[in-house]
Amino acid sequence: MGEDNQCVIVVREFDPSKDLTSVEEVEKRCEVGPSGKLSLFTDLLGDPICRVRHSPAFLMLVAELSSTKEIVGMIRGCIKTVTCGKKLSRNTKSDPTKPVPIYTKLAYILGLRVSPSHRRMGIGLKLVLRMEEWFTQNGAEYAYLATENDNQASVNLFTDKCGYSKFRTPSILVNPVFAHRLPVSNRVTLIKLPPSDAESLYRRRFSTTEFFPRDIDSVLNNRLNLGTFLAVPPGCCYTQESWSGTDEFLSDPPESWAVLSVWNCKDAFMLEVRGASRMRKTLAKTTRIVDKLLPFLRLPSIPEVFRPFGLHFLYGLGGEGPRAAKFVKALCAHAHNLAKEGGCSVVATEVANCEPLKIGVPHWKRLSCDEDLWCIKRLGEDYSDGSVGDWTNSPPGLSIFVDPREF
Ligand SMILES: CC(C)(COP(=O)(O)OP(=O)(O)OC[C@H]1O[C@@H](n2cnc3c(N)ncnc32)[C@H](O)[C@@H]1OP(=O)(O)O)[C@@H](O)C(=O)NCCC(=O)NCCS
Repeated sequence: MGEDNQCVIVVREFDPSKDLTSVEEVEKRCEVGPSGKLSLFTDLLGDPICRVRHSPAFLMLVAELSSTKEIVGMIRGCIKTVTCGKKLSRNTKSDPTKPVPIYTKLAYILGLRVSPSHRRMGIGLKLVLRMEEWFTQNGAEYAYLATENDNQASVNLFTDKCGYSKFRTPSILVNPVFAHRLPVSNRVTLIKLPPSDAESLYRRRFSTTEFFPRDIDSVLNNRLNLGTFLAVPPGCCYTQESWSGTDEFLSDPPESWAVLSVWNCKDAFMLEVRGASRMRKTLAKTTRIVDKLLPFLRLPSIPEVFRPFGLHFLYGLGGEGPRAAKFVKALCAHAHNLAKEGGCSVVATEVANCEPLKIGVPHWKRLSCDEDLWCIKRLGEDYSDGSVGDWTNSPPGLSIFVDPREF
């Protein structure tokens, strides 16, 4: 694209006062998923920055044709500090056998879109390079993004042209929200933790988990966070009424326990499955009607996904002991009921591929994605390796912490 050509592209910061309508137009034209089949549309509820605005630093760029001022592409990015490894503490005050987290400044790219009429002209590449400039100016050491394994355009752009490598392949597990409530096992006691106790539990037990956000407190205190729930065996000394804090709990934990937190994505964005046949939609509707009329049958009805629908995201999944996966299942049933009350159609979570607690998360295979592809790049070659070395070469752990702000 030469400077003398009509199609000179200007990349600049998104301006909500004048770009809203054109950005929405591009978003609508960019269907994610192969054409002719089912595809997923995202309704950003009039706020194109909604998926990055809860991070400590964020930016949205647009690509504009200089001749007509038409917006033909956009990209969002954010930066925060996360765990990238662990080491033994040299601090004499802390337990020297207990690993402590190694943090790094990590940038995340999402929502890259180029209008179909302007693809293969280098616009996507230009947007990524400009975003990376902002990342490095702000001290980010690594950048990563998530994409579908079969999104050839995106995978090629990042791996062939921008130097990213395939890094992790976590699983997105999605479960429908039925018209009936799910029973929560009576062999479990659930406790809703105050945000400060949730924070200390996460910091003390999960801060060495890869991708754990150092500002977990701002996640837990965010208005979209619906709560953190702890599952313990009934009859043990912990109940909602007698709960007296994380310190006491961790000094004498029960033989098994599990925890998870719930994030309300519905107030940030809605999704919609498009391209379904009339027959498929009618079938789904029928199952829902029957489920609503006869909830005691506990029919696994198909949720409303062919109109804009909301979801809750489950994060911070963890636990210990032989019955932890069973407790996760009870927590998921509770989260299902919360999502039903909140008018959501699905509950989703994302966990490491080898996450031992994955077996406790109920999900429909057809709605889920076994391997979400995360690609990573080291932005500054001159950064010191520190104790973790080059994170991009490190082997995956059993768990990862998926930040709800970036789902
Ligand atoms: C992915 C996307 C942003 C690429 O934008 P683009 O402006 O067409 O990309 P560019 O012209 O800058 O292409 C740069 C390189 O990416 C790769 N690439 C882009 N489109 C490709 C395609 N359809 N097939 C294979 N490789 C492709 C090529 O390596 C290309 O270099 P080349 O043209 O020299 O071969 C665009 O296809 C898009 O908006 N897709 C829908 C939304 C989406 O999937 N976003 C990514 C989510 S992370």
